[in-house]
Amino acid sequence: METGFESAFPRPSPSERAIFNSGALSMNAPLTPGMIQDLNVPPYVQHARLIAWVGEMVALCKPDRVHWCDGSPAEYDALCQQLVDAGTLKKLNPAKRPGSFLACSDPSDVARVEDRTFICSERQQDAGPTNNWEPPAEMRAKLQPLFDGCMRGRTMYVIPFSMGPLGSPIAHIGVELSDSAYVAVNMKLMTRMGKGAIEVLGEAGEFVPCVHTVGAPLSPGQKDQTAWPCNPKLKYIVHYPETREIWSYGSGYGGNALLGKKCFALRIASTMGRDQGWLAEHMLILGVENPQGKKYHVAAAFPSACGKTNFSMLVPPAGFDGWKVTTIGDDIAWIKPGADGRLYAINPEAGYFGVAPGTNLHTNPNCMHSLDREVIFTNVALTDDGAVWWEGMEKDTGTTPAHLIDWQGKDWTPADGQAGRKAAHPNARFTVAATNNPVLDPAWDDPAGVPIDAFIFGGRRSTTVPLVTEARNWTEGVYMAATMGSETTAAAFGAQGVVRRDPFAMLPFCGYNMADYFGHWLKMGEKLQGQGARLPAIYCVNWFRKDEAGKFVWPGYGENMRVLKWMIDRVEGRAAGQPTMFGIAPRYAEINWSGLNFSPAQFDTVTRIDRDAWMQEFALHDELFAQLAQGLPSALLATRQALEQSLAAD
Ligand code: OXD
Ligand code: MN
Repeated sequence: METGFESAFPRPSPSERAIFNSGALSMNAPLTPGMIQDLNVPPYVQHARLIAWVGEMVALCKPDRVHWCDGSPAEYDALCQQLVDAGTLKKLNPAKRPGSFLACSDPSDVARVEDRTFICSERQQDAGPTNNWEPPAEMRAKLQPLFDGCMRGRTMYVIPFSMGPLGSPIAHIGVELSDSAYVAVNMKLMTRMGKGAIEVLGEAGEFVPCVHTVGAPLSPGQKDQTAWPCNPKLKYIVHYPETREIWSYGSGYGGNALLGKKCFALRIASTMGRDQGWLAEHMLILGVENPQGKKYHVAAAFPSACGKTNFSMLVPPAGFDGWKVTTIGDDIAWIKPGADGRLYAINPEAGYFGVAPGTNLHTNPNCMHSLDREVIFTNVALTDDGAVWWEGMEKDTGTTPAHLIDWQGKDWTPADGQAGRKAAHPNARFTVAATNNPVLDPAWDDPAGVPIDAFIFGGRRSTTVPLVTEARNWTEGVYMAATMGSETTAAAFGAQGVVRRDPFAMLPFCGYNMADYFGHWLKMGEKLQGQGARLPAIYCVNWFRKDEAGKFVWPGYGENMRVLKWMIDRVEGRAAGQPTMFGIAPRYAEINWSGLNFSPAQFDTVTRIDRDAWMQEFALHDELFAQLAQGLPSALLATRQALEQSLAAD
């Protein structure tokens, strides 16, 4: 580990540490050797509080067996085989997709369930108006009978994991208890899971306790009637921010069940960051190296379905010889101030749980290559030769297979596709270790993290928001991020084209009051600036402007490199830009257009600031600010006024 930084990273205060010794995690009865035997505790686990908690949860959930995951390849293989035997996984043709599997979920269990997700802080105002809230005591009383006996007939997997490089001062440990072997194998790909995390914990280290059940107990002798047990009627994804606990009931899918991801790394971690002075963000992290070998790091927040994975694996286009873009993370960043005052980021995850449909060699060749082997696919279609297929792959081959088995196990032909029936579910996923990524950044696992030069915030907007602008100061950048909006896509939310405000792309993921979260960003900036640090520049981007014919104007994908290079030129003081109402914008001549035919008129279409559209936009910002009025930092209201005045003066 790099020296010097450790002491600079914010650590939990003694009172925060006390949380971990509070009633939430302790067991009244002392541990006995017999109990340790019943709990199947491996000898390398020496953490009394962890063992006590597992004992308490075993007493509550009543599984038939307890398995402590060591994270070894042999364990992964054995669990995958067990899932194949149970029919949950199908082994794919090894000649086509070596070491890979397909899972098809219950049709009711295909996505995160935002309406069943709760932030149960003691005070409602600490959850804020954008989160579902219930008082913790009431929620505990509701969950207790649901969890009582919920794992009957099943194995409880004890899944210790590190979010972030093992032992990194930016990382934190979690332990998930789950009755799903599918969760255990996905957690192996998505996190540093197993013995290593236990070693970091030692005898008394802190961990976030996460309890997950599919909510489908079996009575004695009863066998599963389905390959995807879950509770189709009832789901709860519950967070207790004060005691830093996660309780998830009824779903086996994605962010509902892999609790290290959205539940811990964003909702719980954002509250830890608020209390300890750091940031847990819904951001990819990429490295970009210029032909002279100088390296920059950028963290970028986009709502779901805005090409985030594509941007994190971007291939520089023609005209960018010698430039390299590398991935540190595709979804989440944990960012702490270092001793030098700069912000250092790690990717807390170790794998990608990405959306498959739409991914192809045009949109994201590096991602497609990551998926060649050792992947768990969920809810994509199966080809007749034992491979996988999803909508978008026809762009690579020029054809759609004549026959498939769709994600619901039904026969599918192109005629079904023409009738609007998808072969893969629109939210079908791949789970794959980051080490499969051909453009993985060499520092992706560096415990010290990477220093961030710029933050990017972007939504999907067919009008109004320009291609790129740079905030003139930190507060303006926070304003841009806070007021970010994105048009919904049919895949994600049913209705299409409705602008949903998604501040910092954190709307479903902020574990506390969004207004306080804005305040936390402002305070972080003030504090670092007060210490003389140079803060990262903040950019607002929009790749999705459409022309009058309703067509996307910006070619997207790799061409985003042109915008990225302009940002770096700005950071280096090489591009003057031009002031606009909404920050500093590039002049046409400041962008490297080599290899792309993009006229000044087209540039104008994606960069123009339309006064009427912005007046309407400000009215929508006002609606958001009215919703978040309690605790909203006055600096954001002042910025709003200043921007409108400048629009009027233009
Ligand atoms: C995701 C999301 O799955 O943001 O990453 O929805
Ligand atoms: Mn995400």
